[in-house]
Amino acid sequence: MCLPDRLLKALQSLRQPSSEELERAVRNAGVTLQCVKPYLRERTPPFRYGRNVLLKTGLFEAVVVCLPEHVETPVHGHGDSICCVQVLEGTVTNRLRSPDAPEEIVDERTFRSGEFLHTLRGQIHSMYNPGPGRAVTLHLYTPPLPETAVDTTSP
Ligand SMILES: [Fe+2]
Repeated sequence: MCLPDRLLKALQSLRQPSSEELERAVRNAGVTLQCVKPYLRERTPPFRYGRNVLLKTGLFEAVVVCLPEHVETPVHGHGDSICCVQVLEGTVTNRLRSPDAPEEIVDERTFRSGEFLHTLRGQIHSMYNPGPGRAVTLHLYTPPLPETAVDTTSP
Protein backbone atom coordinates (compact mmCIF):
# COMPACT_ATOMS: atom_id res chain seq x y z
CA MET A 1 0.00 0.00 0.00
CA CYS A 2 1.41 3.42 -0.91
CA LEU A 3 2.17 6.00 1.78
CA PRO A 4 -0.88 8.29 1.19
CA ASP A 5 -3.17 5.25 1.47
CA ARG A 6 -1.43 4.06 4.65
CA LEU A 7 -1.85 7.51 6.18
CA LEU A 8 -5.51 7.65 5.13
CA LYS A 9 -6.10 4.27 6.73
CA ALA A 10 -4.37 5.34 9.97
CA LEU A 11 -6.45 8.55 10.05
CA GLN A 12 -9.81 7.14 9.01
CA SER A 13 -11.37 6.86 12.47
CA LEU A 14 -10.21 10.32 13.63
CA ARG A 15 -12.47 13.38 13.49
CA GLN A 16 -10.99 16.04 15.79
CA PRO A 17 -7.71 14.44 16.86
CA SER A 18 -5.29 15.78 19.44
CA SER A 19 -1.64 16.13 18.48
CA GLU A 20 -0.92 12.88 20.34
CA GLU A 21 -3.52 11.08 18.19
CA LEU A 22 -1.93 12.57 15.06
CA GLU A 23 1.45 11.25 16.20
CA ARG A 24 -0.01 7.82 16.84
CA ALA A 25 -1.53 7.78 13.34
CA VAL A 26 1.81 8.73 11.73
CA ARG A 27 3.55 6.00 13.77
CA ASN A 28 0.89 3.48 12.73
CA ALA A 29 1.33 4.42 9.07
CA GLY A 30 5.02 3.49 9.40
CA VAL A 31 6.46 6.57 7.67
CA THR A 32 10.13 6.17 6.70
CA LEU A 33 12.59 8.18 4.65
CA GLN A 34 12.49 5.45 2.02
CA CYS A 35 8.73 5.68 1.54
CA VAL A 36 8.65 9.51 1.29
CA LYS A 37 11.46 9.58 -1.31
CA PRO A 38 9.08 9.51 -4.33
CA TYR A 39 7.34 12.62 -2.91
CA LEU A 40 10.46 14.51 -1.85
CA ARG A 41 11.28 17.79 -3.63
CA GLU A 42 14.65 19.41 -2.91
CA ARG A 43 13.42 22.92 -3.67
CA THR A 44 10.05 24.42 -4.65
CA PRO A 45 10.49 28.14 -5.51
CA PRO A 46 9.77 30.71 -4.21
CA PHE A 47 10.77 28.84 -1.05
CA ARG A 48 14.42 28.16 -0.22
CA TYR A 49 13.39 24.63 0.61
CA GLY A 50 11.18 21.91 -0.85
CA ARG A 51 7.59 21.17 0.09
CA ASN A 52 5.21 18.72 -1.51
CA VAL A 53 1.65 17.93 -0.50
CA LEU A 54 1.36 14.19 -0.06
CA LEU A 55 -2.28 14.06 0.97
CA LYS A 56 -5.12 16.54 1.37
CA THR A 57 -8.62 15.68 2.54
CA GLY A 58 -11.40 17.71 4.16
CA LEU A 59 -9.82 16.98 7.55
CA PHE A 60 -6.10 16.44 7.01
CA GLU A 61 -3.09 17.60 5.05
CA ALA A 62 0.29 15.87 4.93
CA VAL A 63 3.32 17.66 3.51
CA VAL A 64 6.87 16.41 2.92
CA VAL A 65 9.44 19.15 3.59
CA CYS A 66 13.12 19.14 2.63
CA LEU A 67 15.11 21.86 4.40
CA PRO A 68 18.69 22.40 3.18
CA GLU A 69 21.49 22.80 5.70
CA HIS A 70 21.49 26.21 7.45
CA VAL A 71 18.18 27.25 5.87
CA GLU A 72 15.31 28.54 8.01
CA THR A 73 11.65 28.67 7.01
CA PRO A 74 9.85 32.00 7.16
CA VAL A 75 8.25 32.79 10.51
CA HIS A 76 4.66 31.57 10.23
CA GLY A 77 1.58 30.24 11.98
CA HIS A 78 -0.92 27.59 10.90
CA GLY A 79 -4.15 29.45 11.64
CA ASP A 80 -6.59 27.05 13.30
CA SER A 81 -4.57 23.95 12.45
CA ILE A 82 -2.47 21.82 14.76
CA CYS A 83 0.54 20.02 13.33
CA CYS A 84 2.58 16.93 14.11
CA VAL A 85 6.04 16.68 12.53
CA GLN A 86 8.18 13.56 12.20
CA VAL A 87 11.87 14.09 11.47
CA LEU A 88 12.92 11.49 8.89
CA GLU A 89 16.47 12.66 8.11
CA GLY A 90 18.86 15.17 9.68
CA THR A 91 18.07 17.65 12.41
CA VAL A 92 15.63 20.55 12.79
CA THR A 93 15.41 23.28 15.40
CA ASN A 94 11.86 24.43 16.16
CA ARG A 95 11.96 28.14 17.06
CA LEU A 96 8.87 29.30 18.89
CA ARG A 97 8.15 33.00 18.44
CA SER A 98 6.38 35.60 20.50
CA PRO A 99 2.91 36.18 18.94
CA ASP A 100 3.33 39.90 19.67
CA ALA A 101 6.91 40.18 18.39
CA PRO A 102 7.56 37.30 15.94
CA GLU A 103 11.21 38.31 15.46
CA GLU A 104 11.76 37.28 19.08
CA ILE A 105 12.56 33.59 19.78
CA VAL A 106 10.96 32.59 23.08
CA ASP A 107 12.01 28.94 23.03
CA GLU A 108 13.90 26.59 20.76
CA ARG A 109 14.40 22.86 20.74
CA THR A 110 16.28 20.59 18.39
CA PHE A 111 14.88 17.30 17.09
CA ARG A 112 16.72 14.48 15.37
CA SER A 113 15.78 11.79 12.92
CA GLY A 114 13.05 9.58 14.41
CA GLU A 115 11.74 12.26 16.79
CA PHE A 116 8.36 14.04 16.69
CA LEU A 117 7.45 17.63 17.45
CA HIS A 118 4.10 19.36 17.70
CA THR A 119 2.82 22.80 16.83
CA LEU A 120 -0.22 23.98 18.73
CA ARG A 121 -3.13 26.02 17.44
CA GLY A 122 -2.15 29.69 17.11
CA GLN A 123 1.57 29.12 17.69
CA ILE A 124 4.02 31.17 15.62
CA HIS A 125 7.29 29.49 14.71
CA SER A 126 10.07 28.89 12.23
CA MET A 127 12.12 25.78 11.58
CA TYR A 128 15.87 25.87 11.10
CA ASN A 129 18.22 23.16 9.90
CA PRO A 130 21.49 23.43 11.89
CA GLY A 131 23.03 20.61 9.82
CA PRO A 132 24.96 18.66 8.96
CA GLY A 133 23.19 17.85 5.69
CA ARG A 134 19.58 18.31 4.65
CA ALA A 135 16.61 17.69 6.90
CA VAL A 136 13.54 15.80 5.69
CA THR A 137 10.31 16.02 7.67
CA LEU A 138 6.71 14.88 7.35
CA HIS A 139 4.10 17.43 8.55
CA LEU A 140 0.57 16.34 9.31
CA TYR A 141 -2.00 19.13 9.83
CA THR A 142 -5.59 19.10 10.94
CA PRO A 143 -7.63 20.83 9.68
CA PRO A 144 -5.81 21.29 6.32
CA LEU A 145 -3.99 24.56 5.74
CA PRO A 146 -5.99 27.23 3.91
CA GLU A 147 -5.27 27.23 0.11
CA THR A 148 -4.82 30.96 -0.11
CA ALA A 149 -2.34 31.32 2.73
CA VAL A 150 0.24 28.72 1.75
CA ASP A 151 3.08 31.24 1.59
CA THR A 152 2.57 32.34 5.18
CA THR A 153 1.50 29.04 6.71
CA SER A 154 4.07 26.62 5.39
CA PRO A 155 5.54 24.24 6.13
FE1 LIG B 1 4.99 25.35 10.62
